[in-house]
Amino acid sequence: MSSNQESIVRTLVVALVVSLVASIFVAGSAVTLKPIQQKNALLDKQRSILAIAGIEGSRLSADEVRALFERRIKAEVIDLATGETTREYDPLTFDPLKVAKDQNISRALPGKEDIAFIKRREQYTTVYRLEAIDGSGELEALILPVRGYGLWSTLYGFLAIKPDLNTVVGLGFYQHGETPGLGGEVDNPAWKKLWQGKTLFDANGRPDIEVVKGGVPPGSQKAGHQVDALAGATLTSKGVNNLLTFWLGEQGFGPYLERLRRDMATPENQEEEE
Ligand SMILES: Cc1cc2nc3c(=O)[nH]c(=O)nc-3n(C[C@H](O)[C@H](O)[C@H](O)COP(=O)(O)O)c2cc1C
Repeated sequence: MSSNQESIVRTLVVALVVSLVASIFVAGSAVTLKPIQQKNALLDKQRSILAIAGIEGSRLSADEVRALFERRIKAEVIDLATGETTREYDPLTFDPLKVAKDQNISRALPGKEDIAFIKRREQYTTVYRLEAIDGSGELEALILPVRGYGLWSTLYGFLAIKPDLNTVVGLGFYQHGETPGLGGEVDNPAWKKLWQGKTLFDANGRPDIEVVKGGVPPGSQKAGHQVDALAGATLTSKGVNNLLTFWLGEQGFGPYLERLRRDMATPENQEEEE
């Protein structure tokens, strides 16, 4: 072998060894970091749930967030079609977004029903009850997962409502890919504040919430059901409007909220069931 050929072989061997070592390192890091990433993602989601339910969670430590969840936030898995709670799944590990991809426990939405552009809807999902600080178990807010397409991305978030099952406590998104400064203003605290106290349903129990392009007109008779659209981001705003209408309707939490209203109207039945 000429010295030229030898040097090429040596270079190739060195390159191969370096890439092998690097790939082992990258693969190893990915495996080691995955549980940490999952833990942080869960913590972010829990903080987001707390904030939307009116508890400022961003400054709380991971242990404080965990403790608050153990004491005051009760997760339940519900069947969206019947509105009943199911014990088939563990609410702590159940992942509705994974279920939405499983053809056996999700449903493809026909175009005209799919106003939130989510394509498939899971049969089961997790809802969260914020309970009173005194430990009485009294409901303070119900926190529902919502999602739908904006302009560029699916927005994933939560809607918190009061025990009257009609008034907004908070709305917020923990993940989206809308443009910062335009659709990304869904995260602006000033815009999120506009949602607080809005009424979600009309007198017949139908979803009735509207994001208004150009702003809610002064003196609007329906101001209680209306929120200003984001300036320069009408399409994201419309997406938020559509996703709320979807999740509050028959394909979303309609049957669940109806079941809760029935339970609340007949507390003696509720006691018997328990
Ligand atoms: C680079 C770029 C990014 C944009 N991002 C968004 C966005 O995230 N959400 C949105 O609704 N509109 C976005 N728009 C604007 C839309 O194309 C559209 O003009 C706007 O939604 C209409 O809102 P308006 O009627 O309030 O002007 C973007 C436009 C450009 C050029």
